[in-house]
Amino acid sequence: MAKLCLMTILVILLVHLITFNRAYISSDDAAIAHTYTPAWRYRCVPDQGCERTSHPQPGVEITTRNNSGMLFASMDVCRTVCGRFGGLWPRPVTAAIGMQTVKIHPNYLRFDLQNVPAPVVSLMADMTKLVGPNLVAECDGTVTEVVETPVIVYLTVRSEDKSLTLNTNEEYMLDVQYNNKEGQVSVRITAETVYGARHALETFTQLVASSKPDFADDQTCSLLLVSGAKVRDRPVYKYRGLLIDSSRHFIPMENLKRTMDGMAANKMNVFHWHVTDSHSFPLESTRVPQFTRYGAYSSEEIYSAEEIRELIQYAQVRGIRVVIEIDSPAHAGNGWQWGPEYGLGHLAVCVNQWPWRGICVEPPCGQLNPANPEVYRVLGDLYRDIADALPAPALLHVGGDEVYIECWNRTEEIINYMRKKNYDPTSDGFMKLWAEFHEKALAAWDEVMEAAGTPKQPVMIWSSDLTQPQWINTHLNKERYIVEVWEPVGSQLLLKLLGMGYQTVSVPKDIWYLDHGFWGITKYSNWRKMYAHMLPTDDNMLGGEVAMWTEYLDEQALDTRVWPRAAAVAERLWSDPTSDVFSAEARMQRQRSRLIKRGLRADAISPAWCSQHDSRCF
Ligand SMILES: *[C@@H]1O[C@H](CO)[C@@H](O)[C@H](O)[C@H]1NC(C)=O
Ligand SMILES: *[C@@H]1O[C@H](CO)[C@@H](O)[C@H](O)[C@H]1NC(C)=O
Repeated sequence: MAKLCLMTILVILLVHLITFNRAYISSDDAAIAHTYTPAWRYRCVPDQGCERTSHPQPGVEITTRNNSGMLFASMDVCRTVCGRFGGLWPRPVTAAIGMQTVKIHPNYLRFDLQNVPAPVVSLMADMTKLVGPNLVAECDGTVTEVVETPVIVYLTVRSEDKSLTLNTNEEYMLDVQYNNKEGQVSVRITAETVYGARHALETFTQLVASSKPDFADDQTCSLLLVSGAKVRDRPVYKYRGLLIDSSRHFIPMENLKRTMDGMAANKMNVFHWHVTDSHSFPLESTRVPQFTRYGAYSSEEIYSAEEIRELIQYAQVRGIRVVIEIDSPAHAGNGWQWGPEYGLGHLAVCVNQWPWRGICVEPPCGQLNPANPEVYRVLGDLYRDIADALPAPALLHVGGDEVYIECWNRTEEIINYMRKKNYDPTSDGFMKLWAEFHEKALAAWDEVMEAAGTPKQPVMIWSSDLTQPQWINTHLNKERYIVEVWEPVGSQLLLKLLGMGYQTVSVPKDIWYLDHGFWGITKYSNWRKMYAHMLPTDDNMLGGEVAMWTEYLDEQALDTRVWPRAAAVAERLWSDPTSDVFSAEARMQRQRSRLIKRGLRADAISPAWCSQHDSRCF
């Protein structure tokens, strides 16, 4: 009985299989069962971008070498050669990009460093080492077609200075030329600094795409380089940043590094590390080990001193300066509770106080205790560790936002201190106390810098009540403070501070905060909205940044929330284009695809049909 049953099932299955196959394969299409031959290619349409176009002849070989017909099997290749700026992101100042390409292989890529000054030659060499892997990434890890065409990159760098500051010259010239007779590609890069040369290497990488047809079954992949290109380029803004908050959630090291890979691909130059807050203190301090002992979420969620150094180096090779923010006097709590146990008194007050409303902006509360002189000594030790880790001249962010007077006003020790100093218990008196905190913290930083032999540097500070026009003049010296304004675009504060001669960095929260749209009544900004926002024209407008606050984010969704939106702001800050956002869309699609190839899970920006038909969805 069982046997019969089995037989029946087998027969039914067999019949089913045969009919199933028959339904889908007609005799004249039999070949399709083995190789999929699509009936389309991509076409470069002037002033529009690349578009999927019907190409029904089956027998015609897919050729990606011959661009004269301007039909491409790969969208990436089409975008790389199509349009005035090809697939470059951010858009350079000027570019002439040919439509012809030449096959290359990373094994035949050579860098000539003879015209790079000795003090910067090893940094330059490290920068060149990133080119090969980024090219291989275009082929998803393996370039199967080996061509022996030599590609020689001649680097000329003028300056011996390897410091990365707000005055670093990031300009570069890039020329790519294929000599048909010699069968060799010459790439000439000229820059004032290694950082300009690094940007040129990134641009060079963006002149390469994988020839792999988007629809190929086989796994062969070769790299195509634009065989003739000339790029002249320099950034509009000096400060092009991305903020990552690693206190609300610990963000593991490898994720920070991957984020920096994305920044490098977009020529962003400041990694603003909001590493501590009242929630947790993950930054290891060798001089003050109590910070992480008391403040880390767990023994796993700590950045060791060695990892911090490694990350800073990782950044430098990618043209990125790390700005470390120790938010103070507010946004400081966990990590600062150990004072009484060590005989230092209360270093922070209102720590984890509950109920929290009125005492701080969000739980857990905590504010440093300006009345306790030990606070400045401990801060000084922490600053010393930071200065040791950062390349000179270090740029420190002292935080300075969202001080809640009510917290200090409820603390007897602070009220007594104010009485002694003759500060009224009014807003005016508390402003004096707040300003005094920054003055003493800055003095601690200056002392550290002086000991290191570095001339006095300005520090960064968030906009707050203290940076309002009626307070800032008396309390914060414009030679010493760069104000990072996070008020919404409608606010006049940015213009007022510029008018008063303060150097500023802009991050309007309603447009450039990447966490908006995920909590409360905040609204999400898509990349187009982020891109369209322009900064006021002023010599003291240093630039801007996008901010990834992490109350509602950890490493699981990091890439998708940051990319490609951060890239939109990167182009705004590098090129500040006057053209509309629509003309950037095709390049943005290419940049997104590039980021994905380099291992970043960048979010989609349109339906897939639209990404195959540039300019057809608006
Ligand atoms: C390149 O393609 C065009 C159009 O498809 C064709 O007319 C031309 O003969 C091709 N050239 C070469 C060298 O294969
Ligand atoms: C501080 O607290 C006192 C007593 O409760 C109150 O009168 C005063 O207005 C408070 N000061 C400020 C600036 O809030």
